[in-house]
Amino acid sequence: MKYILLLLFSTSLLASEQEALQAIKSLGTNLKKELQKAMKISKVNAVKTCNVKAMAIAKEASKKGIEVGRVSTKNRNPNNFPKEWMKPYIEKFHKKEIKDPYVVISLPNGKKGLLKPIATMPMCLNCHGTKIDADVMEEIKKHYPNDKAIGYKVGDIRGFFWAEYKE
Ligand code: HEC
Repeated sequence: MKYILLLLFSTSLLASEQEALQAIKSLGTNLKKELQKAMKISKVNAVKTCNVKAMAIAKEASKKGIEVGRVSTKNRNPNNFPKEWMKPYIEKFHKKEIKDPYVVISLPNGKKGLLKPIATMPMCLNCHGTKIDADVMEEIKKHYPNDKAIGYKVGDIRGFFWAEYKE
């Protein structure tokens, strides 16, 4: 009995590539849903929502031993700067040397690392584009004085979803 419980416990902390992809997908879907809801009130309001909710949503998605989040080399939130293992792959994605939709890497700590580019869509330009409303920019600067996440065009890679998990 003890052995079975132990087995159940340990397998529940293991995850497959598909589950990691699913966790990333649900992070993206939930973020977009919250963003769209907040944008209906106002763009300025949406900046606040993103600020408060992004972390909570990432935590919510980080289940079953799968950790997920978003990063960018031109990051808005200082916590979203890429980790060491991500950097070479991010560079290759930006140079279009990697054409796969995502990569899975074996990390030195025995875990798997998954990295998937996030494309810039028209709606993203409201807060990441080249012409951002003054009141929106002011709100962004208030929360993120070191913001680097502007100047994007539709189709640019805005950043990456990442996951770390034990297979
Ligand atoms: C209403 C403004 C707003 C809109 C619209 C918006 N974002 Fe953001 N974005 C933010 C804010 C604020 C953050 C920082 C969130 C945080 O604190 O984690 C952020 C962070 C990010 C990050 C994490 C990396 C970083 O720079 O910190 C990515 C990736 C990202 N956004 C992509 C997108 C994409 C893709 C779209 C369009 C689908 C989009 N955003 C639309 C405001 C916005």
